[in-house]
Amino acid sequence: MKIAGEHVQSIWYDLNCDSVKIIDQTLLPHEFAIVELNTLSEVCDAICGMKVRGAPLIGVTAAYGVYLSLREDPDSLQQACSKLLETRPTAINLKWALERMKEDLSQARSIDIADKALEQCQLIEKEDILICESIGEAGAPILQELWESRKNSQRYLNILTHCNAGALAAVDWGTAMSVIYKASDHGIPVHVWVDETRPRNQGANLTSYELNEEGISNTVITDNAGGILMQRGEVDMCIVGTDRTLSNGDVCNKIGTYLKALSAKDNNVPFYVALPSSTIDWSIKDHKQIPIEERNSEELSHVEGVDENNEIKKVRIYPKKSKSLNLAFDVTPAKLVTGLITEKGVCEASEKGLKGLFK
Ligand code: MRU
Repeated sequence: MKIAGEHVQSIWYDLNCDSVKIIDQTLLPHEFAIVELNTLSEVCDAICGMKVRGAPLIGVTAAYGVYLSLREDPDSLQQACSKLLETRPTAINLKWALERMKEDLSQARSIDIADKALEQCQLIEKEDILICESIGEAGAPILQELWESRKNSQRYLNILTHCNAGALAAVDWGTAMSVIYKASDHGIPVHVWVDETRPRNQGANLTSYELNEEGISNTVITDNAGGILMQRGEVDMCIVGTDRTLSNGDVCNKIGTYLKALSAKDNNVPFYVALPSSTIDWSIKDHKQIPIEERNSEELSHVEGVDENNEIKKVRIYPKKSKSLNLAFDVTPAKLVTGLITEKGVCEASEKGLKGLFK
């Protein structure tokens, strides 16, 4: 991704200081700060505290957490994986990355297990970039086709997205946003409606920031505005990411995604979901088995932003006595999904569709 004209990744290993570097996403868009991670507990805190977030990035960061743990204690593979697995429950990429680390290191000797872990992390990091770029290439023709049918009547192809499924949610490119970036690179004039995505505002804080940095036209809207925009014909397509995709094509993504999909269905707006195969959970059949993360109620009761002196301030917005429920994800049933865009191509949101590409 480009930030201030420079190419940056969301995570990388810095050989000079033998540490892992991340962008602290809790400070964006007001401050761009790079943070060093040197221990397992720093990695766990970064994931729990959402300095890094987004399904693919959580997976890559967890893999680096395994390396940092093994660097200190070559016998800590199992404990490190168990600790990392507890950081966030919904994105399956976390489990996927830890399983992969365990499998690849199962035969390693104590003397070189940390080196092997580092090699594996760097491989996972590189693969994530290639996979996300391929998702973009696979999805861009859908936007091209839509644009061909609209270009004589409008200035932009209007795409609505929810949360942040951009480069900041992966190592680079992102998933849903990769499709947008590739379409833009192919010359399609894209305009993005960015759902603010309460309560953590990943849309307003991160998606809009990324799009601004990439020079792509975008407008932040309230989470409830998508419906009327679709009724007015001002959304040509919705595209979102997913934290866990079931084999039947159901997708679990940031809270509010389901309502967008319902609205899209009612207004004949295509609703696509972009994902790397590491997001597919082949093991469960019923979405009720997906652990839905419930986060701190302070995320709801308080809002954060900068004041006129550019200082970050947090203020309460409703009575202390009020109860709150902060569910972080919801499930969009496959029947509302027009198609899944993956690194191997586009398929129907169904077991047949997914198996056709991956098994
Ligand atoms: O709670 P977050 O910020 O980790 O949630 C992120 C999302 O819901 C993304 O849409 C999802 O991870 C898919 S991104 C590639």
